[in-house]
Amino acid sequence: EKGGFRSFMDKEIHDQPQAVADTLLGRTNASGALVLDDVRVDETLLRAVNKIIVVACGTAAYSGHVAKYAIERWCRIEVEVELAHEFRYRDPIVDEKTLVVAVTQSGETMDTLMAMRHAREQGALVISIVNTHGSTIPRESDAVLYTHAGPEIAVASTKAFLAQVTAAYLLGLYLAQLRGCMRPDEIAAVLAELRDMPQKIHTVIERGEHVRATAESMRDASSVLFLGRHVGFPVALEGALKLKELAYIHAEGFAAGELKHGPIALIDEGQPVFVVVPSPRGRDSLHSKMISTIQEIRARGARTLVIAEDGDDEVHAYADEVFWIPQAPKLLQPLLAVVPLQMFAMALAAAKGLDVDQPRNLAKSVTVE
Ligand code: F6R
Repeated sequence: EKGGFRSFMDKEIHDQPQAVADTLLGRTNASGALVLDDVRVDETLLRAVNKIIVVACGTAAYSGHVAKYAIERWCRIEVEVELAHEFRYRDPIVDEKTLVVAVTQSGETMDTLMAMRHAREQGALVISIVNTHGSTIPRESDAVLYTHAGPEIAVASTKAFLAQVTAAYLLGLYLAQLRGCMRPDEIAAVLAELRDMPQKIHTVIERGEHVRATAESMRDASSVLFLGRHVGFPVALEGALKLKELAYIHAEGFAAGELKHGPIALIDEGQPVFVVVPSPRGRDSLHSKMISTIQEIRARGARTLVIAEDGDDEVHAYADEVFWIPQAPKLLQPLLAVVPLQMFAMALAAAKGLDVDQPRNLAKSVTVE
């Protein structure tokens, strides 16, 4: 039941630290090596993989976008992410050296099931990342990595998404271990950072009041934009999807670098724009690029709603609101940055008097093509 929360979604957002912790639990064998749950695949085949294609729909596909950055970085294998319904109908190039990763909360999404069946017919290996035990997709996969988020009741996915992202990191580390792309101590270091994430997610949730108050003041907004770069890009896409489906507001996520190629024309006086700012500690130019982006849109009248890491003192000057998240390694930041966006969409929907657990026109499990 809702356990004192206003909605299942509210409860499930609060369940997120546990969902991530449980997904990390029990992933190593007696010798400390990472393991998959259910494996019907020869490891020599996995070592020979030369391309990974993640197939999924909606929020689950955004977890695949995050996985791409992590797996390519850690394993140096090419990763494509494709919406399952697009993959299925374009005669994709797939063979025995292709690993298809199907990501799904329900394990029953018809588009994802058809895509994985198609891939297997071409000889591809399929590993699925699934939340629901006993569902169809894990039964038909060569190996499974279960997300232990527990049952997700609200139609809009929250804790399943965080668990999918967590499982995708584990898969990346598993492949890196199997293929010898990372040293055991490097893998252990990432795992240790991952184990710190539940506490940090908890901190973000505890800071939710500022997000809620901001959402309530935006009841009349007719459009909200979301910008991100690198792993912040899928976070922006997910923030926009949550807002559309829950609050029925026009919302779009963009890669920040794409702005000047068109979308910046949308910015006018008062246009709310969320910006996901990467860590200022990263040894790259991502952070300064995002600061320039915030300046540019602010100069054109945007109301800037910035998600930034604790200790980032450069964002202040150009942000109308800052939603602070704890510091985390660059690749792991999505587990934190997406949480204020989930809470924002939920609070805005609630402020409009909408049913946050059952948005109109949507079903929890999409079992038709
Ligand atoms: C959005 C949402 C959907 C699902 C999508 C895939 O909040 O929940 O976009 O992520 O329908 O569903 P599963 O993960 O069950 O395959």
